[in-house]
Amino acid sequence: MMGLFRSRFLRAAELWVMLTGIGYAVCRHLLRSEDPYAVVNHPAQPHLQHLHVLGAPLLVFAVGWIWEEHVVGGIRRSAREPGTGRRSGWGLAALFFPLILSGTLIQVLVDESWRTNAGWMHLAFGLAWSGVFIVHGFARFRGRSRVKRRRVRSGRGPGG
Ligand code: HEM
Ligand code: HEM
Repeated sequence: MMGLFRSRFLRAAELWVMLTGIGYAVCRHLLRSEDPYAVVNHPAQPHLQHLHVLGAPLLVFAVGWIWEEHVVGGIRRSAREPGTGRRSGWGLAALFFPLILSGTLIQVLVDESWRTNAGWMHLAFGLAWSGVFIVHGFARFRGRSRVKRRRVRSGRGPGG
């Protein structure tokens, strides 16, 4: 358990960073302005970029907030009591550092081709992280219903 407030804060930060990141990627790579001299491809592009950079520390903070109890605690608990963990949790924990590193490198790399590579890597890590985050949330419901089914079969009722 991570507490309702932390859980909501984390999910809100994830939603913010994911949507602004993907929106910015669409502006940058998929849209083309009709004005050949345009610096941005869509008027929303700079806003999405700013919102993304502003939201990113909130996500980093939110994950830091649950790290000791939920992530390290979850890994320790699943080692002690097999079946209580969640494989997607390992994926999230592993993806988080390259996600932050690539995002930060975009800002400090000066060479244009290295910057572009960091941008593509960051997009790939961002999409992977966001996909696994969604799977991790849904696993909760599957897990619950498995427990319920087992309880029903053993005659103990569905429980909470
Ligand atoms: C950076 C890594 C992780 C993030 C961001 C994360 C995030 C989340 C979120 C948002 C939920 C839903 C909580 C709720 O709404 O109540 C959740 C549930 C859960 N996670 Fe993780 N998780 C991570 C790592 C892990 C790890 C490593 C494990 C175990 C090995 C794990 C096991 C679970 C389990 C069992 C649940 C369902 C029970 C509960 O709510 O605590 N997670 N996680
Ligand atoms: C949740 C998943 C995320 C997605 C889908 C995502 C997506 C993106 C995309 C597509 C870009 C533009 C890349 C480019 O310029 O080529 C970007 C830029 C950036 N991201 Fe993320 N990102 C995510 C999470 C994060 C996190 C956790 C951080 C924290 C460090 C972060 C920090 C940044 C920074 C600093 C930039 C550079 C903005 C600029 O000045 O151009 N992102 N992100």
